[in-house]
Amino acid sequence: MSEHRSGAEARSSVQTSGADHVVLVGMMGSGKTRVGRQLAGRLGLAFVDSDEQIERRHGRTVREIFETDGEPAFRRLEAEALAAAVGSPARSVIAAAGGVVLDARNRELLARAGTVVWLRARPEVLATRVGDHDHRPLLGDDALGVLRRLDAERTPLYREVADAVLDVGELSPDEAAARIAELVA
Ligand code: S3P
Repeated sequence: MSEHRSGAEARSSVQTSGADHVVLVGMMGSGKTRVGRQLAGRLGLAFVDSDEQIERRHGRTVREIFETDGEPAFRRLEAEALAAAVGSPARSVIAAAGGVVLDARNRELLARAGTVVWLRARPEVLATRVGDHDHRPLLGDDALGVLRRLDAERTPLYREVADAVLDVGELSPDEAAARIAELVA
């Protein structure tokens, strides 16, 4: 873990569901879903992926929602999915969609959700990991350029919500999950 702060200040005065969730945040391609699944297995907790929740609840893919309703509509669904996940009384590992930190109300929710871990990697690394972009319409045909721009915009926001930062550039999902499991055990 390259940085770690308690998060106690952020969480101390706000009511929570009582469940001390582990929430993974970070850019597209940082491995939130794969690491989250492995971490949940290690910890014996439920795993919730916010994009999957949106797709299941609304019966449409992320790409369809972006293309038909536009990004602001998607961001509203993203906020609903985050609120539902952190509002669950069952302690869970939550992979939050990359853009949740854009909304100040989401950041407020994250501050009282439990332990927030930022999976951090350079855009050059992320670009090699984003795969076929299927649920990532923002990437268009210039993944690296978009990732560089989003990284610059979002780095201060991920930093703001993170209780811990894990540099995942050199780590496999299993190694990353093991490091986080140690942190939250
Ligand atoms: C987005 C990230 C995607 C998905 C959507 C927008 C973003 O999720 O929610 O394409 O703005 O960073 P992942 O972070 O799981 O790739």
